[in-house]
This record gives sequence, structure tokens and C-alpha cells, in this order.
Amino acid sequence: MEVIVRPAADAAAYLVARMIARELRATPQLVLGLATGRTMESVYCHLVRMYREDRLDFSLCRTFNLDEYVGLPATDRHSYRHYMDHNLFHQVNIDRRNTHLPDGCAPDLAAECRRYEDAIRRVNGIDLQLLGIGRDGHIGFNEPLSALRSRTREKALSPRTLAQNAPLFDNPANMPRRAITMGVGTILESRRCLLLATGAEKADIIAKAVEGPITAMISATALQLHPRCTVIVDEAAAGRLTETEYYRWVFANEPEWEPFRDGTDATPPPCPCD
Ligand code: GLP
Repeated sequence: MEVIVRPAADAAAYLVARMIARELRATPQLVLGLATGRTMESVYCHLVRMYREDRLDFSLCRTFNLDEYVGLPATDRHSYRHYMDHNLFHQVNIDRRNTHLPDGCAPDLAAECRRYEDAIRRVNGIDLQLLGIGRDGHIGFNEPLSALRSRTREKALSPRTLAQNAPLFDNPANMPRRAITMGVGTILESRRCLLLATGAEKADIIAKAVEGPITAMISATALQLHPRCTVIVDEAAAGRLTETEYYRWVFANEPEWEPFRDGTDATPPPCPCD
């Protein structure tokens, strides 16, 4: 695992967008794992700007989202399908047939979970998985006690997740209590993971996820087992990490990060969505 600390939230999101763009330019048919949540909105915004201004091409790219609420149709504006259409898919030249989310309205949810796993397998797995983190440490909707080898399945949402995401619903009482999510094991099979977290309210859980012991109580700690996982945080979310001096040295000196050390993220270009 590597940790990159950027000065501010937008700089962190911009760096993630640049990393995705670099992979997509190198491999136009990239299989991207995508995440939702407030943190990701500015990543998608930067990608939209890169599509419009820098000809970033999504036409061959395939995407698989981490999760979807049970019972919300794609037309519901609280669904993650709607979120993705609105924040990314409708704004770039991606082929909609190449965009995948679990169907939270499928009549047989267990069969839908198997179908989703098969679909990922058929494209030979996920090249680059984007991840946020919930306040309870979930990745996707892998709530506390998610098995570290779990696969795509239905999961009941924790009280903390309900509290975190309810404000996004017009009527919080209508927020689904269940979701379909890729499993921790599914996520760990992706070839590369990028986890983005910003803001002081994520500082505690980031310190546990990165520097704490691996536990099924905090599914993000399983990323310590991943061979190629990069955690990108702003100063606020890095606030409770203890080894930041080492992380900063690695980013400043390791050849892998050379393309991203040009300082442009200090003042990221404005997003069209701002
Ligand atoms: C939801 C998603 C997670 C995401 C989390 C972070 O719960 N299921 O995949 O990591 O939101 O949300 P935010 O960025 O709003 O803090």
C-alpha cells in the first residue's frame, strides 16, 4: 500500500483523475471499477473536463460499479445508476452498453449477484478499481463483518451508513436498508486499487484502514492485502496518520510518481461542474 497526501480535497481528486486518465490513455479498453459518493463527484468532474478539453477517450472503456441500492430503479434519482449517468456517463463518449451496475430491482437478487460476478470474469477482471470509504470503514457497501473473501452479494446497511447517506435522500425514511455490493474478495482481485478520502471526518477511519490491524469489522483494512493499492488523501483526512513523513518521501522520490510531481495539482483547473 502507498499513501499520497495532497494539500487539499480538490488537489487529491485531481490527482486521482489524472491517474485514471493516464491508465485510460495507455489502455483504451480499460476495465474500470467505479465508486459513488460525494467524494467522487469532483473526480468525475475532472474526467469530464479532460474529455472535453484534452480528448480523453472513453469509447472503448468498460466500467463496473461497486454497488447499488436494493429496490431503486435506474430512473430513481437516488440510485447509483442515476448518479453515474448524471456525473459521468452522460457527459463523456462512453458506450452505455459498456457500463455496468448491479440491478437492485432484479427479481432474483442472488442470481443477479452471480450474473455480475460472471460479467466481471468475462472481461478478464477489473484493471483499476476506484474506491471511497464510508465512515464505518466500508468499501463498496461491505459493512462491518463482511468476510474478507466475500463476493458480490446483498448486504444490510449499518446504522452509521444509513446516517451518513440518508441526507442524500429527499425523504430519508425512503432510503433502502439493503444494497448489492461487490465483495471484499471481488475488490481484492482487481489489478490496481485507488482509494480517495478527503475531509477531517475521514481522518479517524483512514488511520484505522491504513495503519490499523486487518479486521472484517473495517473492510477497508483488507486493502493492506492488495498488491497494488494507493490511498490518496488530503491533509485533513491524513490528520491521524502517524507515518506521513515516510509517505511524503516516497511520493517525492519514487520514480513511479514522477509523472505526477509536476505541481499542477496545487492549482487544479476549474471543473465544468463547479
Ligand atoms: C457510499 C458508497 C461507498 C462510498 C461512500 C463514501 O456509501 N457505497 O462506495 O465509499 O459512499 O461516501 P462519501 O464520499 O459521500 O463520503
